[in-house]
Amino acid sequence: MKNLVFAGLAGWVLLMTMASYAFAGDEGQGADLYLQDVQPMTTMECARCHYSAFVDIRDQGGLHQQPCTDCHQVYHNFKPSVPMKDKLPQCADCHDAPHGDLFVGCLGCHTNAHAPVTSLIGVDKLAKDCEACHGEQQSEIKEFPSAHAEILCSDCHHSRHGNRPSCNECHEDVHTPYIDTEKCVACHAPHSPLEVTYGEETPSKLCSGCHEEVLEALTGSSKKHSVLQCAFCHVEKHGNIPACQDCHESGPHNESMIKKFTGCQDCHGAAHVLKLQ
Ligand code: HEC
Ligand code: HEC
Ligand code: HEC
Ligand code: HEC
Ligand code: HEC
Ligand code: HEC
Ligand code: HEC
Ligand code: HEC
Ligand code: HEC
Ligand code: HEC
Ligand code: HEC
Ligand code: HEC
Repeated sequence: MKNLVFAGLAGWVLLMTMASYAFAGDEGQGADLYLQDVQPMTTMECARCHYSAFVDIRDQGGLHQQPCTDCHQVYHNFKPSVPMKDKLPQCADCHDAPHGDLFVGCLGCHTNAHAPVTSLIGVDKLAKDCEACHGEQQSEIKEFPSAHAEILCSDCHHSRHGNRPSCNECHEDVHTPYIDTEKCVACHAPHSPLEVTYGEETPSKLCSGCHEEVLEALTGSSKKHSVLQCAFCHVEKHGNIPACQDCHESGPHNESMIKKFTGCQDCHGAAHVLKLQ
């Protein structure tokens, strides 16, 4: 390491001299020339010779938009006995293993250190490893069987890593008019689409696409239930059925009267209509 730094330094000084000659011009005369302080090369100066590295970082560097020498503390060691890998920075100089012990060959996926995210290999190549990094989504899709468990992660998340597909790419004819994916995922989590949940504000017209008759019965009634939204009574999860007592306890009636009947519906009929029997 010591040798390396020394050699790096020697190379650097050599280059500095070249560079100040090339860039700064000769400011002093005779011995004065050598009385000036030697300044380390700036990123702009590296860029003159390493233009493509500069452009990569400028356009695609993301959080790697740092001065060259933050990463390249040792460089221009042209000694043939020093292997190239010792002349270049290692990811591990600055990063621990962010994806765990399984993924240590960083450049195998982040193929250009100067464009660490945009140079990622394609989803087809990542496909075998989705699960290792996204265990949560993998467990969810396994735990709640649906047709979505039968297709690959990369069938939906196609084209590039991190792409979020819209539902209507595959579902043209749906029970409710397609507006945007956000509206669909308000009821269907994409990795467990049959576990339908929804908020209290969900408008009844989203239910009536499949329960037309119920909506008609409800709105056709003159009773006070007719102004309530489906989701006000059938809370949270598709298929939830409330008991009358959840909202009314025993209503205006005394408990001993109620005990004589199997339920409130014996007299009030179905909840949607409330037609006295
Ligand atoms: C005057 C032109 C010039 C300048 C300025 C320059 N380099 Fe180089 N650099 C070269 C040449 C020539 C090579 C060797 C040829 C090759 O491999 O492309 C090289 C090689 C490298 C390498 C390859 C590995 C190695 O050490 O040999 C790195 C890394 C590097 N330079 C970094 C830098 C950095 C960082 C700066 C600015 C601090 C810089 N260079 C400034 C010309 C320059
Ligand atoms: C965030 C750290 C980082 C920054 C900033 C950075 N580099 Fe690099 N650079 C690396 C790493 C890591 C490698 C080695 C990649 C490999 O092993 O293939 C490398 C490789 C190189 C190489 C040799 C291999 C090649 O691709 O040609 C040169 C030359 C180079 N960098 C120049 C520069 C210059 C010039 C700058 C500034 C404009 C710069 N680097 C900024 C991390 C960095
Ligand atoms: C000299 C230090 C240094 C080296 C060497 C370095 N990085 Fe980084 N890298 C950083 C810093 C600092 C950040 C921003 C903060 C963070 O995410 O940790 C970063 C961020 C990243 C990011 C996120 C970029 C973004 O825009 O979201 C990736 C990916 C990355 N590094 C991969 C690599 C890989 C792969 C290597 C080796 C080829 C490497 N880094 C080498 C310092 C370094
Ligand atoms: C199997 C492919 C693969 C390997 C190997 C890999 N990465 Fe990544 N890395 C990714 C993907 C995919 C992302 C997500 C990028 C995005 O944000 O879209 C990522 C993101 C990152 C990030 C930014 C997000 C975060 O978690 O902070 C850093 C930093 C990073 N990688 C560093 C590394 C380093 C260092 C190594 C080597 C130890 C490495 N990666 C190895 C695929 C890989
Ligand atoms: C080496 C680890 C790694 C692999 C392999 C990987 N990812 Fe990622 N992925 C990440 C990291 C890191 C992020 C960014 C941080 C986060 O959101 O967890 C990310 C983010 C995402 C995102 C969210 C993007 C956003 O907008 O928030 C999706 C979607 C995604 N990955 C899907 C996939 C799919 C599908 C695969 C397989 C084809 C895959 N990933 C393979 C590490 C990985
Ligand atoms: C039927 C299509 C589909 C399948 C199959 C699928 N996803 Fe997704 N995934 C989506 C959609 C759509 C989103 C965005 C949801 C949103 O915007 O709220 C998403 C979001 C994500 C996210 C971002 C975080 C989150 O949960 O919102 C990750 C990570 C992810 N998926 C990984 C995976 C992995 C890993 C697999 C395979 C085990 C997979 N997905 C299978 C459609 C799918
Ligand atoms: C890459 C294609 C693809 C995308 C994107 C996609 N799906 Fe699917 N989905 C399918 C396939 C294939 C089936 C099974 C056949 C069918 O019902 O059309 C399915 C079935 C379903 C089912 C019924 C599940 C079952 O087991 O019966 C629901 C609900 C569903 N999708 C909702 C969604 C929602 C919501 C989105 C957006 C978040 C979405 N899908 C995005 C391909 C996709
Ligand atoms: C108000 C909640 C809600 C919204 C919003 C919603 N869905 Fe549904 N969806 C359901 C319910 C409930 C089912 C029936 C589930 C069952 O059979 O158990 C269903 C079933 C499905 C099915 C299975 C096939 C079918 O038609 O019966 C698909 C596909 C589907 N939805 C896609 C979508 C898409 C795409 C969107 C966005 C345009 C969407 N859904 C919006 C509640 C909703
Ligand atoms: C895509 C069609 C579809 C949509 C949209 C839909 N449902 Fe259903 N619903 C069904 C089907 C099919 C059944 C019967 C099979 C079952 O139990 O899953 C059903 C059953 C029910 C049941 C009775 C469950 C039982 O155990 O008898 C209730 C209550 C219900 N839905 C309420 C709603 C509400 C409230 C909405 C709107 C938030 C809604 N549904 C949206 C298709 C749908
Ligand atoms: C989620 C709560 C909820 C549930 C469950 C519920 N109700 Fe109601 N009910 C209401 C509300 C709210 C009103 C209107 C109260 C008002 O405006 O004073 C109402 C009104 C009524 C009325 C008066 C109707 C009128 O027009 O005067 C009757 C009778 C009634 N409910 C019976 C029932 C019966 C029987 C059941 C079970 C089959 C039931 N309710 C289930 C919330 C509920
Ligand atoms: C006042 C509360 C309330 C409202 C509002 C309400 N329901 Fe119901 N629903 C019930 C109760 C209680 C039952 C249990 C059976 C009964 O008493 O009629 C039920 C039963 C059901 C059933 C299964 C049995 C059947 O009658 O088909 C479906 C499906 C259903 N409701 C859908 C809906 C839809 C769709 C809406 C909106 C258009 C809606 N409900 C509005 C309380 C309500
Ligand atoms: C023996 C028949 C019978 C039974 C059983 C019954 N009710 Fe009633 N209920 C009535 C009659 C009759 C009325 C008065 C007429 C009307 O308001 O529709 C009434 C009125 C009501 C009212 C409206 C009170 C108002 O201020 O307008 C509510 C709420 C109510 N009942 C709830 C319930 C609930 C909850 C149950 C079950 C725990 C139940 N009832 C069981 C016959 C019955």
